[in-house]
Amino acid sequence: MIPAAPLIDTFNRVMGDLRISLTDRCNFRCLYCLPETEAAANFYQQRFAPAGRTFSTEPIRRQWQPRTALLSYEEIARVVRIVAGLGIRKIRLTGGEPLLRQNVEEVVRLIASVPGIEDLALTTNGFNFHEQAAALKDAGLRRVSFSLDSLDGDNFKRITGQDCLDTVIANIRRAQSMGFRPVKVNAVVIRDVNDHEVGALAQFARDEGVAMRFIEFMPLDSARAWLKELVVPGAEILSLIRREHELEPLPARHAAETSRRWRLAGSDAEIGIIAPVTEPFCGQCNRLRLTADGHIRTCLFSLREPDLKALLRDGSSDEKIVAWLRAVVWNKEERHHIGEADYQQPDRSMSCIGG
Ligand code: GTP
Ligand code: 5AD
Ligand code: SF4
Repeated sequence: MIPAAPLIDTFNRVMGDLRISLTDRCNFRCLYCLPETEAAANFYQQRFAPAGRTFSTEPIRRQWQPRTALLSYEEIARVVRIVAGLGIRKIRLTGGEPLLRQNVEEVVRLIASVPGIEDLALTTNGFNFHEQAAALKDAGLRRVSFSLDSLDGDNFKRITGQDCLDTVIANIRRAQSMGFRPVKVNAVVIRDVNDHEVGALAQFARDEGVAMRFIEFMPLDSARAWLKELVVPGAEILSLIRREHELEPLPARHAAETSRRWRLAGSDAEIGIIAPVTEPFCGQCNRLRLTADGHIRTCLFSLREPDLKALLRDGSSDEKIVAWLRAVVWNKEERHHIGEADYQQPDRSMSCIGG
């Protein structure tokens, strides 16, 4: 059989990665994603006041999707089978919080058995990972990324709205000891919120042997509270870490990598800097996204979301879906426009898109 041509866009970028959101729901209210807590309101109001703006914790647009709107696991597996035939090799399951969906191991098992899928990962806030870890491993999940923005219980609660730092740390350790590899840990760095903790978070990577990634704050939160003053540039994060740790550069593993990486000298642990705002990596982007309600997003910042679910549910053949996907991907956005005069924030926030 002649292999099908890959999914390609007008900038000659070849798609290799599909990120699938299993649900838009989340049980956390992170300052950078769903800032809908009193702590978030207090923080942003203080920042907005000098500019004469007021901050509301009311989301701009957030209605959780009803269950019937979500793709079933069989529908997701069909999409994965189709895109695997078109060269997609990496799948990441995201949310919202993906582990809020029932029996996630079922979709893991379906995806893990699709020929061509070489890498299957999950991003979680770590809240109830312990309940599902064994079933996920057994179903074929190989690696997990956790969100952890602070090592201080009070600050963790202020950032996430949940008082469960110890549970998340225990679950990161559980993932390590169960043999998920690599275990990655994501921290979104926000000025005056957790930038004083980056050295300690790097130490956490060293102590636990995990890959700690520091991410610039992007304008994708539900309240549109993002301010450029709150972004701590990757270069600044790096120099903050270097005050406390010796770092050795690591080579890029592939062209589409989002992070620049360093080894913490004298250990196997690594840190990565993901700097989409100050050092965009769109030129090499090979990522597509599937929302929980079955729309394709060709960019995190897409303003259009072609509806794949309609085709999945109207009896369309695989051939028709392939042709449709080729046309959608062809129109993938060149890059994001964060910080530019023409920047327009997408309607849906990160929890609906998948991180
Ligand atoms: P793996 O190589 O699959 O482990 O992925 P990764 O190292 O790129 O990291 P991951 O997929 O966990 O993404 C980490 C974070 O990077 C996300 O939560 C986003 O904040 C950011 N990110 C990931 N993909 C993109 C992207 O395509 N564009 C932008 N602007 N940011 C991204
Ligand atoms: N900016 C950058 N990263 C974000 N994430 C969520 N919201 C944002 C944002 N506004 C990322 C975090 C989280 C993952 C699910 O998505 O890394 O761990
Ligand atoms: Fe790709 Fe869009 Fe992210 Fe740029 S902002 S790397 S084009 S998804």
